[in-house]
Amino acid sequence: MEIIIQPDAAEASRVAARIVARLVGDKPHAVLGFATGNTPLQLYRELVRLRREEELDFSGVTTFNLDEYVGIAPAHPSSFHSYMWAHLFSHINVPKQRIHIPDGLTADIPATCRHYEQAIRSAGGIDIQILGIGTNGHIGFNEPTSSLSSRTRIKTLTEESRKHTAAGFGGTGGVPTHVITMGLGTIIDSRMCLLLAFGKKKARAVARAIEGPVTAMVPGSVLQMHPRTVAVLDREAASELEMADYYTWVYDHKPDWQRY
Ligand code: GLP
Repeated sequence: MEIIIQPDAAEASRVAARIVARLVGDKPHAVLGFATGNTPLQLYRELVRLRREEELDFSGVTTFNLDEYVGIAPAHPSSFHSYMWAHLFSHINVPKQRIHIPDGLTADIPATCRHYEQAIRSAGGIDIQILGIGTNGHIGFNEPTSSLSSRTRIKTLTEESRKHTAAGFGGTGGVPTHVITMGLGTIIDSRMCLLLAFGKKKARAVARAIEGPVTAMVPGSVLQMHPRTVAVLDREAASELEMADYYTWVYDHKPDWQRY
């Protein structure tokens, strides 16, 4: 795994945006996998800026989001649909018909999950999957003990995850109990994974995912099995990494042709 440690979230998000922008520039029909949560907000702001100021062209891309709450309408202000339109899709020129987010209102969850997997395959697979990480090590909404080879399916949220989004649902009691999420197997089928983590509260999960044993108890650790994962961290999120000095040295000594 390539680990890039930046002074703060703003710098780290700019590195991540350059990685995405380069992909979209090189491959206009790229398939982009998006995440929600606080972590990618600055990345999305930077992509919007690149669209506005440098005419980065998203007209050929296809997108797939990691997850959505079950029982929540797209128009609900705390749905991941609303999040994506508010922070990214309304501000870039991605065609609506090529945006995919799991349907939280479906009457047939297994069929919806199968079709989601099929849609990813038909699009040619995901070129880059943006990921955050939960304090318990989840990626997407694959909570601890998720199968490392799981596919898109329904999952039950942990209390910790429900607390994290309580504000958007009028308290933990209002947070949906279930979600549809890409599986860990789905995520690591992506050609590249771009993991972002910022702040002290992510340090333990980051250290366990990157340097700990590969275990379903830390779903993010499955990325150790992925041939091309780049983790872009701020100093605080990297603060519990044993090999942090080495990662910084490696980044500082990258050959020019490998720089982002
Ligand atoms: C969420 C999402 C994840 C996200 C994680 C961390 O609930 N399903 O995709 O990465 O939790 O959230 P945040 O970025 O707000 O810390």
